[in-house]
Amino acid sequence: MPTFGRLLAFLAVLIEVYAYTWPSNIDYLEGLIYQQSGYRRFGVIDGVSPCSFSSGGAGRQAAAEWVRSAFHDMITHNTTDGTGGMDASIMFEMDRPENPGAAFNGTMNFMINFYNIQVSMADLFALAVYHAVGSCGGPRIAMRGGRIDATSAGPPGVPEPTDDLDTIVTQFASAGFSISEMIRMVACGHSRSLFLSSYLKFNYRSALGGVHGVDFPNITGNDSSTNFVHFDSTFDSFDTMVVTGYLDDTTQNPLVVGPATSNSDLLVFSADGNATMQSLSDNESFTTTCKDILERMIEVVPPSVTLSDPIEPIPIKPVAIQMTFDSSGALTFTGEIRVLTSDRDDTNLTVRLHYADHDGNIPSDNTISTVVVSISGYGFGVNFNFYAFSAAVSNGISSFNVSITSSSGAEEVYDNGGEGFPIQDNIFFLSSHSCLVQEVDENGNWNLTAVAAVRNDVSLANPSLDVVVKTQRIGIPVPLLTVESSPMEIWNAGAYDGFTLYTGSFSLPIYSWSTTFDVTVGEYSDSFKSSGGLTVIVISSTISP
Ligand code: HEM
Ligand SMILES: *[C@@H]1O[C@H](CO)[C@@H](O)[C@H](O)[C@H]1NC(C)=O
Ligand SMILES: *[C@@H]1O[C@H](CO)[C@@H](O)[C@H](O)[C@H]1NC(C)=O
Ligand SMILES: *[C@@H]1O[C@H](CO)[C@@H](O)[C@H](O)[C@H]1NC(C)=O
Ligand SMILES: *[C@@H]1O[C@H](CO)[C@@H](O)[C@H](O)[C@H]1NC(C)=O
Ligand SMILES: *[C@@H]1O[C@H](CO)[C@@H](O)[C@H](O)[C@H]1NC(C)=O
Ligand SMILES: *[C@@H]1O[C@H](CO)[C@@H](O)[C@H](O)[C@H]1NC(C)=O
Ligand SMILES: *[C@@H]1O[C@H](CO)[C@@H](O)[C@H](O)[C@H]1NC(C)=O
Ligand SMILES: *[C@@H]1O[C@H](CO)[C@@H](O)[C@H](O)[C@H]1NC(C)=O
Ligand SMILES: *[C@@H]1O[C@H](CO)[C@@H](O)[C@H](O)[C@H]1NC(C)=O
Repeated sequence: MPTFGRLLAFLAVLIEVYAYTWPSNIDYLEGLIYQQSGYRRFGVIDGVSPCSFSSGGAGRQAAAEWVRSAFHDMITHNTTDGTGGMDASIMFEMDRPENPGAAFNGTMNFMINFYNIQVSMADLFALAVYHAVGSCGGPRIAMRGGRIDATSAGPPGVPEPTDDLDTIVTQFASAGFSISEMIRMVACGHSRSLFLSSYLKFNYRSALGGVHGVDFPNITGNDSSTNFVHFDSTFDSFDTMVVTGYLDDTTQNPLVVGPATSNSDLLVFSADGNATMQSLSDNESFTTTCKDILERMIEVVPPSVTLSDPIEPIPIKPVAIQMTFDSSGALTFTGEIRVLTSDRDDTNLTVRLHYADHDGNIPSDNTISTVVVSISGYGFGVNFNFYAFSAAVSNGISSFNVSITSSSGAEEVYDNGGEGFPIQDNIFFLSSHSCLVQEVDENGNWNLTAVAAVRNDVSLANPSLDVVVKTQRIGIPVPLLTVESSPMEIWNAGAYDGFTLYTGSFSLPIYSWSTTFDVTVGEYSDSFKSSGGLTVIVISSTISP
């Protein structure tokens, strides 16, 4: 049916909405932002949902801690010499007097679940602000990716409540913020107005940020481990309390009305004769201001870092793509297509792939059909459907376009910016032949064994198994990630037509058992394979992690 196929393609509307092309270094981060619940969820939101959620016990609130953590990481930036900023250097700085409290460990210990070779802890700090503010009914701030983690402590300089105004102003200026911007950022950080709609939604009343007596006994006048004084004390009105309470002198914010030696919010808020605070006193300007200033806060990075454009949900995204052999030994292309459905009236879609073979030629029947596997992926107001496919591709595949047909018959073709979605079939990982042997070797490690198929007719030799090793660092909740390569050797040259199987093994520290790896030959890589998905072989004498 090549003619019919071509006719349809000709009639179809070609969709080229975003400059974004797949794959991209923000693919994983995009999933963390938008795949919150339902099928293929990452669930970053779980750590701050509902807004008042605490996994650390009474007097703690993860959403507040995530925002405070990002601020402490960011504010040490020095625009003159480019040091500091959002680089997760806070992981090395928690013993400084300017960084008391459990917030930083708490934030990182949660975010560690999403930390891997494709996303930095610094991006996860930014994502933490995005989710905390979003979950608490605040504005949706723009989220960009590309931050790079520091490898050691950066400059100090987080303002303390006992600092004088000059010191505080100087530090904000160093990080690139004027006096008025400083006032806005502190007002947004020390308010619960961001938490508006979730309060309404859950009708939930509890702590929304404040001062912990155990860390600041001189401010709260009580060093009990459960002592906690809120920034805002009026629990049944949902307005810009931090601003209005301050302006009409009814606030009980301990950094305003507390001891004169530690009332930094009073110093900050009145630094321009209250002009900025007055401008913030209506809801709308408060929300807009907080969106802008929190966005700027998480975009403070060293000049060597280039941030991506704000990350929007991508209309079409290939996920879990894998070349493999089916049970009869046929070369097979499998995976799923994630389709953004929130901007569609009709979500009863027929999704097809049209592919070009290994050599870039279009086979006579190049259509791969899909079946819907889920119509329920959700996050931040967007929905996805997922469509799975598995098709024999005898001469391989180099790229594909995705066609979407609605119930009315209208077809759209997505070509990933013109070239199609690229696929390499020169080397691919074969999970069916790979395993994680949980028997400790002489180094006390387990044994990751991976098998890859390498195409014979490309003269590529010496494939390697490249494993991301996580190394624990004492006193630092974030492991060091290093990529270690080991050579792969020919294992079987006759099992599959046109391909040779290679095997490689790696002595994997048990601490690092849940990691990712690539199989690589020349410039080609089948990457980001999960060790967690491997067949586990347990040998009786093994000690569990
Ligand atoms: C002059 C600048 C600032 C000073 C001196 C300051 C000081 C403080 C202090 C002493 C606490 C209590 C911490 C605790 O007991 O755990 C606190 C909490 C907090 N700060 Fe700030 N802060 C400043 C600016 C900011 C900014 C700009 C933000 C974010 C935009 C922010 C976000 C927060 C949050 C969310 C909390 C609540 C943390 C929790 O409840 O666990 N702060 N701040
Ligand atoms: C920023 O860096 C410059 C150059 O190293 C230094 O002179 C200045 O004191 C730093 N600023 C702050 C606030 O530490
Ligand atoms: C806390 O207050 C005590 C008693 O007033 C004082 O001796 C001490 O220096 C204060 N500590 C700080 C960190 O301000
Ligand atoms: C200190 O705070 C704790 C917890 O809020 C409270 O139970 C205790 O009564 C307070 N102590 C004083 C002396 O106020
Ligand atoms: C702000 O919003 C809250 C909740 O919707 C409302 O109760 C309050 O009156 C508003 N305040 C202003 C100044 O609009
Ligand atoms: C600013 O507002 C505070 C709190 O309401 C007040 O105490 C102070 O006098 C005001 N300052 C000016 C210059 O109006
Ligand atoms: C994908 O679409 C582009 C046009 O946008 C076309 O040039 C290319 O040949 C198509 N690829 C396949 C495999 O159909
Ligand atoms: C979806 O569309 C197909 C035809 O395109 C139709 O057969 C099917 O009944 C529709 N399903 C729903 C739930 O509307
Ligand atoms: C943070 O966690 C590390 C372990 O990862 C621990 O050594 C350190 O004491 C903790 N710091 C705080 C302030 O809780
Ligand atoms: C892992 O196991 C395989 C198969 O038993 C063995 O050949 C290989 O040497 C082991 N690798 C390491 C790094 O221990």
